[in-house]
Amino acid sequence: MKVTVFGTGYVGLVQGAVLADVGHDVMCVDIDAAKVAALQAGQIPIHEPGLAPLVQANHAAGRLHFTTDAAEGVAHGELIFLAVGTPPDEDGSADLQHVLAVARTIATHMDRPKTIVNKSTVPVGTADKVAAEVRQTLAARGADIAFEVVSNPEFLKEGAAVADCMRPDRIVIGTSSAAAERQLRELYAPFNRNHDRIVLMDVKSAELTKYAANAMLATKISFINEIAGLAERLGADIEAVRRGIGSDPRIGYHFIYPGAGYGGSCFPKDVKALIHTAQSIDYRPEVLLAVERRNDAQREVLAERILAHYGPNLRGKTIAVWGLAFKPETDDMREAPSRNLLQALWAAGAQVRAHDPVAMREARRIFGDRPDLVFCDSPMAALDGADALAIVTEWKQFRVPDFDRVARALRDRIVFDGRNLYDPAVVARHGLTYESIGRPA
Ligand code: UGA
Repeated sequence: MKVTVFGTGYVGLVQGAVLADVGHDVMCVDIDAAKVAALQAGQIPIHEPGLAPLVQANHAAGRLHFTTDAAEGVAHGELIFLAVGTPPDEDGSADLQHVLAVARTIATHMDRPKTIVNKSTVPVGTADKVAAEVRQTLAARGADIAFEVVSNPEFLKEGAAVADCMRPDRIVIGTSSAAAERQLRELYAPFNRNHDRIVLMDVKSAELTKYAANAMLATKISFINEIAGLAERLGADIEAVRRGIGSDPRIGYHFIYPGAGYGGSCFPKDVKALIHTAQSIDYRPEVLLAVERRNDAQREVLAERILAHYGPNLRGKTIAVWGLAFKPETDDMREAPSRNLLQALWAAGAQVRAHDPVAMREARRIFGDRPDLVFCDSPMAALDGADALAIVTEWKQFRVPDFDRVARALRDRIVFDGRNLYDPAVVARHGLTYESIGRPA
């Protein structure tokens, strides 16, 4: 099928490449000319496992095209995906200007019926707004062309985006149009073998499903972080508790890892947006407000630990930091807990020696050159001349360090672990003090 994707971010680029890979003819449109030129040359703007070869192979095979020409894009696809960003507005609501701008663009150029498929995470009611925008623009042109707006939210995880997109656990399709349903079933048929993964529903339910999924996951994390705080204060071990509750299939082992708080481009933004939606209709989102408050506090826990150990003044101290990305296998630092840690360390006068396997370029872009931040090309190099180590991201490269070397390198022989990577008994055996989340020190 002929498909156009507006927006070449995580969602659009991955979805476009994966659809091309099963044989669809995909055109990706982006207003960023430099990005489009780079993509045409096979350069991928983000770090995402498996994405570069996928894009390169499908581009070379002539199934995946990139353009800045919106008219060409609109002409190409019978299905047109909206995969542009919905950044949070100042008040926390999702900013729809990009989504609505693309809706106008589509309506300006379309000359035959189109199915508009929304993949961006957008508040309930957005499909109606998109439809109204298209209708208005068409009317202004004096054009009478049929169109549908379908909600088809994306559930991929950064760092596993290609794999998630190729093997979706569900394909949520929100539409009441039988014709649009048929088109999307045909589009997704290659991903829907063996058993039916399509969950068909009305548009608004599909829009809410996306927020409910992310809010539920964020809730699990904030919940376990709260219990971790309790465990710590009561002398219990959260890792034992986690295993103890995870064995109940109603709870499950997934997504109950305590840590330095959730980050990334989705959970913080989507929880905020859902709170905003609730408040805008005078419904008090008691749970969501608590989820957000717990996470805001959790993101400060590592820094608080370090300050509690050393006192408020860290002048003269050098802290090694392992991990800057908001999670492993990505260079994304949006809302990363490492940012809270670094700001707090700098505010207290500390020097930071940081290592991340892929996010150091992004960190340099964010923080610029500053004398209290040194980027180190290996985890061990970050320990040179450091007093303590703080671990923020659970990269697998950090899982089995040579603890004797760590102990020799750190002047104060102390590790603050925001991801509970190690067995406290093992770390202690190497003469290190070990503080982690929700476990006795
Ligand atoms: C999340 C969802 O998992 C995807 O299903 C969704 O499609 C996506 O948002 C989106 O809305 O686009 P992502 O933000 O890539 O995906 O990252 P996750 O793997 O979900 O991790 C989010 C954060 O939660 C990370 O900071 C991670 O460290 C933290 N986390 C995760 C925990 O602290 N504990 C856990 O047990 C799991």
